[in-house]
Amino acid sequence: METIQQEQEVVSMPRIGDKAPSFTAVTTQGEINYPEDYAGEWSILFSHPADFTPVCTSEFMTFAYMEEKFAKANCKLIGLSIDGLYSHIAWLRTIKDKIEFNGMKNIEVKFPLIEDITMNVAKKYGMIQPGESKTQAVRAVFFVDQKSIIRAVIYYPLSLGRNFDEIYRALVAMQTSDAFNVATPADWNPGDDVIISPAGSCGVAEERMTSTEELDCKDWFFCTKKLDKDLVLKEILKK
Ligand code: BEZ
Repeated sequence: METIQQEQEVVSMPRIGDKAPSFTAVTTQGEINYPEDYAGEWSILFSHPADFTPVCTSEFMTFAYMEEKFAKANCKLIGLSIDGLYSHIAWLRTIKDKIEFNGMKNIEVKFPLIEDITMNVAKKYGMIQPGESKTQAVRAVFFVDQKSIIRAVIYYPLSLGRNFDEIYRALVAMQTSDAFNVATPADWNPGDDVIISPAGSCGVAEERMTSTEELDCKDWFFCTKKLDKDLVLKEILKK
């Protein structure tokens, strides 16, 4: 008896803590080797569903407007969609020449936009999520650190434009955690109190509750301390 074998495509979903999968790609700024070309700096690799679509246009303008801010935090931006290079070029020209949005105009997208007609990169990064679309990438955001390790991942559906202030906040929060060995509470921004690592023994738990150090312990497992905003910004923006 013949069995019909369904072709099952292997699609990877890189996880936090994984090394960012490598690829070489053609972009609007020439060829890139990712993540190797970005060693020593953070990068944000993000996908969008398609060129010449309104939500994507609003996102690209916002990201391009903020590019300098990300660069100052030692972070480069790289976009991707399953469109060809000439579509990308035409779209970016249209954005610069014609589109006004949220007070932004004449916006030049200077960061690379990957052409991914073959879906090679999109499949490696789990950007094709067939329940949402079989032909367009979802709105994925990969935060990759200076050692090429994936540190955070966000996936949004096609209809939902991302919050770029939150993407910047997350980047700064992760860099602050690395630099000062702390965690950051809900809605943290530079200047807010940070969380110190939880007590790992009964002795430390007791010490925390009786300490004269400048800790604010809500309970033995939840202690915060002040971290000066200027100190954070000096560290994050030092490169
Ligand atoms: C947009 O960017 O506007 C969009 C793209 C794909 C589906 C829905 C909206």
